[in-house]
This record gives sequence, C-alpha cells and structure tokens, in this order.
Amino acid sequence: MAPPQDNDKPSGSKDKGKAKEKVIDANTADKLLSLNPALANEFAGLDRNSVAKLLKELKLQEIATGLPAGGKNRKDMASYKFWATQPVARFDEPENAPVADGPVQAENPVVPTESSAMLEGFEWVTMDLDDEAQLKEVYELLTGHYVEDQEAMFRFNYSASFLDWALKSPGWLKQWHVGVRASKSRKLVAFISGIPVKLRVREKVLNVSEINFLCIHKKLREKRLAPVLIKEITRRCNLEGIWNAIYTAGIVLPKPVSTCRYYHRSLDWSKLYKVGFSPLPHNSTPARQVARYLVPKDTKLKGLREMKAEDIDQVLDLLSRYLARFEMAPEFDKKEIEHWFLSRTAADKQEDRVVWTYVVENDQGKITDMFSFYSLESSVIGNKEFKVVKAAYLFYYASETALQADKSEDEIKKDLKVRLNELIGDALVLCKRVGFDVLNALTLLDNTLFLEKQKFGAGDGQLHYYLFNWRTAFIRGGVDENNAIDEKNGSGIGMVML
Ligand SMILES: CC(C)(COP(=O)(O)OP(=O)(O)OC[C@H]1O[C@@H](n2cnc3c(N)ncnc32)[C@H](O)[C@@H]1OP(=O)(O)O)[C@@H](O)C(=O)NCCC(=O)NCCS
Repeated sequence: MAPPQDNDKPSGSKDKGKAKEKVIDANTADKLLSLNPALANEFAGLDRNSVAKLLKELKLQEIATGLPAGGKNRKDMASYKFWATQPVARFDEPENAPVADGPVQAENPVVPTESSAMLEGFEWVTMDLDDEAQLKEVYELLTGHYVEDQEAMFRFNYSASFLDWALKSPGWLKQWHVGVRASKSRKLVAFISGIPVKLRVREKVLNVSEINFLCIHKKLREKRLAPVLIKEITRRCNLEGIWNAIYTAGIVLPKPVSTCRYYHRSLDWSKLYKVGFSPLPHNSTPARQVARYLVPKDTKLKGLREMKAEDIDQVLDLLSRYLARFEMAPEFDKKEIEHWFLSRTAADKQEDRVVWTYVVENDQGKITDMFSFYSLESSVIGNKEFKVVKAAYLFYYASETALQADKSEDEIKKDLKVRLNELIGDALVLCKRVGFDVLNALTLLDNTLFLEKQKFGAGDGQLHYYLFNWRTAFIRGGVDENNAIDEKNGSGIGMVML
C-alpha cells in the first residue's frame, strides 16, 4: 500500500493542536507564541513553563505557522519535473515585479487529436456519468483512494449524489470526465474531471475549466501517471477551445495564486474528539468543550427560509453583485444558480441531499441575504464506533449589507461583520438540525469577519488556488504571514471550490 497521502484538500484539515513532553525555556516560548496567535489562543490559561514544555514537541514550522511541517512545501522549480514544463507561473519569477494579467503561453499550440500513450495494461476511457453504474465506479474509486489527511485517519467520502451534482453542472461535457481502466479487469483505476466555468480574475472574464477529483488508485501511485492525466484533460479542454483552468490542492505547486486556511466549527464536539478530529485543549475539560460548542435550538433572523425556485432571479442578482467585490470569482447565470443552490433531492431521500440554501426575505418580498452549505462526509479510517464524520462546508453567501452605496468602506465592514455573524450563527443552528458534526470553512469570501466569533477553530490544512495558463498577481487568502486570520485585509477569493 502507498504511504498516507499528504497532498490533501479539505478532508485533510483537522482541528490542530497536539502536544507532548520536552522542555524549552519560558522566554523562548513567549517569543514563539508571539509568532502564532492561533496557538497562543489555544494555550491561553496555562502557565509559562507548561506552555514551554508543550511547545518543545511541536516542529518549528508548526509553531510559526500552525501548519504541519513536511517535505511538501518545496518552492524550488527544479524539484517540479512536470510542472516546470507547464504554462503556469513559476517560483523563480520576481515576486514583486508588476504582473500583467494574461496567458503564460501566448500562442495556442496545435492540439493533438489523439490521447497520448497510456501505461501498458491500462487504457483511456470517457466516463458516462448519466449511467448510474459508471457514476458508482467513480464514487467507489474516490471512496477508496481519494484525499486523506496526513495521518491517514480520514478520507473524503464524496457520495454518488454529490458527484452527480458536482460533475454535471450546466454545460458539462462528457469528454471532460476522464477515466483510466485496467485493460483486462476493466476496473477503473484513475480519474480526473473538468466542468466549464466563467471565471473573473480581476478585470478579465475567462471561460475556464474547473479541474477536480484527480485520483489514482493506491497501487498505481508514483508512476508519473498524474502528469499524464493532467495533460489529457488539458488536451480535451483545448479541443473545446478552453486554454485556462482553475484548480486547488493542499500541496504547494508552482505557483499558488492564493492560499487560504481551513477552519472548523464543532457541532458535535464529543464525536469529533472520539474520532481524533478535535483535540482536548490543555486548559479545558470535555464538559467545557461540549458547552462551548452548544448552538441554540432556533434560528434568530426574521424572514429566514429555504430558497425556492421563484427566488432564482433575486439570488442571481444579489450573489452576482456580492461576488463582484472579490478579485477572483465565478460569474454565474440563471441555470447555474438553479443547479448549485436548489436542492433536487426528493423529500423521502433526504439522506442523499447535497446542498442547502437559505434566504432572508424582508417585508417587501425582497431577498436581502442568502447563504448555503453542502454536505461532504469523511470516512473515519479504522474506528470501531464511528464510520463517518458528517461535515457541512460553507458554500456561497451574500448580503445587501455589503452593498450599501451611501456608506464608507469602514462603515460597511462594521455592518457586514454584524450581519454575517447573524447569518452564520443561524447557519450553525440549521447545520446542527440536519445532523452535521462540524461546519468547515476557509478564510475566503468575507469569512475572516466571523470565523473567530462563531468559534471556528484553526485547522491544520491549507488550500492553495492555482490558475493554469494565466498569470495574475497574488490574491490575499484571508490569512497573514503567520497564517492567522487577517481580518484587516480580508480575502480577494470569491470562488468556492468543491
Ligand atoms: C494526487 C495523486 C493523483 C498524485 O499521484 P502520484 O501517483 O502520487 O503522483 P505521480 O507520480 O503520478 O505524479 C507526480 C507529479 O504529479 C504532481 N501532483 C501530485 N499531486 C498533484 C495535485 N494534487 N495536483 C497537481 N499535480 C499534482 C506532482 O507535483 C508531480 O509533478 P512534479 O514532478 O512536477 O512535482 C495521487 O496521490 C492521489 O490520487 N491522491 C489522493 C487524491 C488526491 O490527493 N487528489 C488531488 C486532490 S487536489
């Protein structure tokens, strides 16, 4: 079996913070904690010597950034044999030089009409996800082999209904659902996908493909198959006249256009503790942790209700204006709003439900706010009591509070902070009601305004955003150089990836 993967995306992120025994002096401990406010928070209430003892066990990078150290955060181009050959921004480009937005590769190359050679004994296939059996094959490949956390305790468990939603958005193309089968057994052993998206990066609006679900069977790892899959999906996108892509990964590749951090809001702390997702802080007890994460039974906002089909036009208008405030965001159309936000799950199949969207309607029938979250379970690997962690992920939201023409930026930010805390406070109630164990969110959109107040804890995972064949200056990801929430500058990322 291949070693645990640490090139994780979301599932990988866990509540961070574990510490064992050893000793460093108390002054050094003070200095180290000043580098990492999140960690300082976690150790609040402990005396200096205990903190010093605990710190000794953490690796330097963990102390400085709150993230696990590992060989993966390499930044020298020479170590990227494949990516160094691709039209992506490079690490050795001058960091502070003005970056003119545009393609990395100015000329569009001639696109080969045939797929490149596959490993012997394996062959390319186009998956037909309208066929339930084939959708199930993709689901089974991902369930067994997709992203795990660093310690291989959790693995994403995208459901078949989730994949149906994520991979068949408006305009989807069958040929962008690329598989590899073993020629003899016909077993599906690798997958990569794209969906068409209209993406605005600063002033430019691009038709891109959103690449996701790259997965290779554990037995076929480290055979340089990933570059072959990436080149094949690139070719298939090029054939449709698409030359740019957006993708995310937990690992550092050349070169992130932005980096966000994962945050987790416990809804069932006891369970998260038992499965090893959340630690018990050194200055707390299980009972105090449970009490800390209690949420009210009822929502508070007047006019809050589930989104209906009749709301599509208003939600499109509100969300589009809201997302226009970010440096990188999708441009949705009506069909996409319907697809991404209106649940299609029948009343008697709610256990398969993927997305929940709520709106706030005022007395005049105007929708002033909306928020949404989606369901994505993670399998708990090797735990006898619990098979899955039921996680909700914060999806898009919007509020008129951010769009008041008569107010200054500072006034708007103050109002928005209040409003988003109300909205997300109610989102927590609704997530708890559905039965989620945790609500996950990144430091994108305006999340820096509510994460701390709503008791989201810093995760140990980052998510890097990448653009293929598009150069643009770095976009703030909502965290500062110490990887702490950057409320002052916020984030320029308005694109939420699944
Ligand atoms: C990610 C995965 C497909 C990589 O496969 P692999 O067998 O480990 O790697 P290969 O030997 O085939 O290829 C290595 C190349 O792929 C690149 N690569 C690895 N993971 C990548 C990713 N997530 N996105 C883009 N490129 C990636 C590596 O950087 C390397 O290229 P380089 O020499 O330029 O650095 C595989 O580990 C896997 O299925 N993991 C679980 C699912 C997962 O993490 N998917 C990615 C989600 S973002």
